[in-house]
Amino acid sequence: MKTIAFHNLGCKVNSYETDVMVQKCAEKGYEIVDFEQKADIYIVNTCSVTNIADRKSRQMLHKAKKTNPDSIVVAVGCFVQANPEEVAKDEAIDLIVGNNKKKDIVEILDKYLAEKEANAIKNNSCNETDILKDKDLHGETVEDLRHCDYEEIKVFGSTERCRVFVKIQDGCDRYCTYCIIPYTRGNIRSRRKEDIIEEIKGIASNGYKEVVLTGIHVSSYGKDFEIAKGASKADNLEKSAEYLYDLINEAAGIEGIERIRIGSFEPMILSEDFVKKLSGIKKLCPHFHISLQSGSDTVLKRMNRHYNTDEYYDKTVLLRKYFPGCAITTDVIAGFPGETEEEFEETYRYLEKIKFFETHIFPYSRRKGTIADRMDGQLTQAAKKERVSRLMELDARESAEFRKSKLGETTDIIVEETKEIGGKVYYVGHTPEYIMVAIEENKLNNDCIGQKLKIALKSMLNDQIVLAEVV
Ligand code: F3S
Repeated sequence: MKTIAFHNLGCKVNSYETDVMVQKCAEKGYEIVDFEQKADIYIVNTCSVTNIADRKSRQMLHKAKKTNPDSIVVAVGCFVQANPEEVAKDEAIDLIVGNNKKKDIVEILDKYLAEKEANAIKNNSCNETDILKDKDLHGETVEDLRHCDYEEIKVFGSTERCRVFVKIQDGCDRYCTYCIIPYTRGNIRSRRKEDIIEEIKGIASNGYKEVVLTGIHVSSYGKDFEIAKGASKADNLEKSAEYLYDLINEAAGIEGIERIRIGSFEPMILSEDFVKKLSGIKKLCPHFHISLQSGSDTVLKRMNRHYNTDEYYDKTVLLRKYFPGCAITTDVIAGFPGETEEEFEETYRYLEKIKFFETHIFPYSRRKGTIADRMDGQLTQAAKKERVSRLMELDARESAEFRKSKLGETTDIIVEETKEIGGKVYYVGHTPEYIMVAIEENKLNNDCIGQKLKIALKSMLNDQIVLAEVV
């Protein structure tokens, strides 16, 4: 049987979908090999969220072809959806597969291999349009995603040892002015609760204790169920909150599942009623990612975000009221078009005020086809870089502070793996807040991986890791 190698880029939804493709190919009998190795087929699940993501996608596809010039290189996902002409012309790429066709990867490969064998692909004599047709198997493997249904797929495990990402929805219709994702992922489509629960039961029966419910815009979960019932397309965050609560609550009842995390919330879904109800679900980890993007109201407006900084602040207060000591993480874009020094300072001070556990900071990246790309006042790379590094320094300080604030507490971890830190081997895992914790190797037995242990947080092993002892 042929060998096949995978490389994943981008978000957690992408890594879930890579897990599914790996699983399907292994079931079909393909031998899965490391991406660095010589393989017959390479599959790169691409990302296009920034220019850097585009570049990495391109690099990995070219690297695959270089490792084995006779291989079949398959570009899958967002880079394909965002740049169909470019991938069609790229000679390193043999086959392209859109986001909603990942579930059909085995059948697509079968068809491609059959066509290849029948010598149907004549790249040398084709004009550009023919090349595009061939690489998408005559229009079958890449589609317009504006009006599609949820593509049901399932995983039974993960490449991560203890934590499995479970996709609950796809697509986004928020159209933030900087973001390419609504164009690469298409319309909102939610997965049926029954399918999600069945998947989590399968995951639990395979010994996993932790799941992360993830999606492209989790806070839109169920919005399309409402539209199907005849509701208007208007925001219905209250309804989505109800659907999400029901789903999380039912998932928490599954035997074997000890922890549930949510990929990301949009601030305005966090009503007091919703947060209060969530706090009653004991398996829900007190670890919340709420995208901020900017701490300046004028920038938020230009970004077409649907909240202001006061509203966002109120949501963090609510979370801390019902989940005392919880970890709140966020994303921030530095150097959005027209961002003045004053607006940047507002963001800086706002981050200091909220005290996030972790802030993922990105320099603004121009994406063709988005409104922000056409805005005046584009900043230079150097200006964006300087703002990113100031925010990163702040993040490193705040993040270490949060970890330190937990010293002396008793909590739990699920042991994930062994790791060498400063020349010594430790068992590592994460607390419910997602703080990384290390326990000296000689204090535990070999069979502790995957086990949930009660621990006391003792001291800082370094800025990022807390040293703990089993209690
Ligand atoms: Fe990237 Fe597509 Fe995810 S653009 S971040 S892989 S939705």
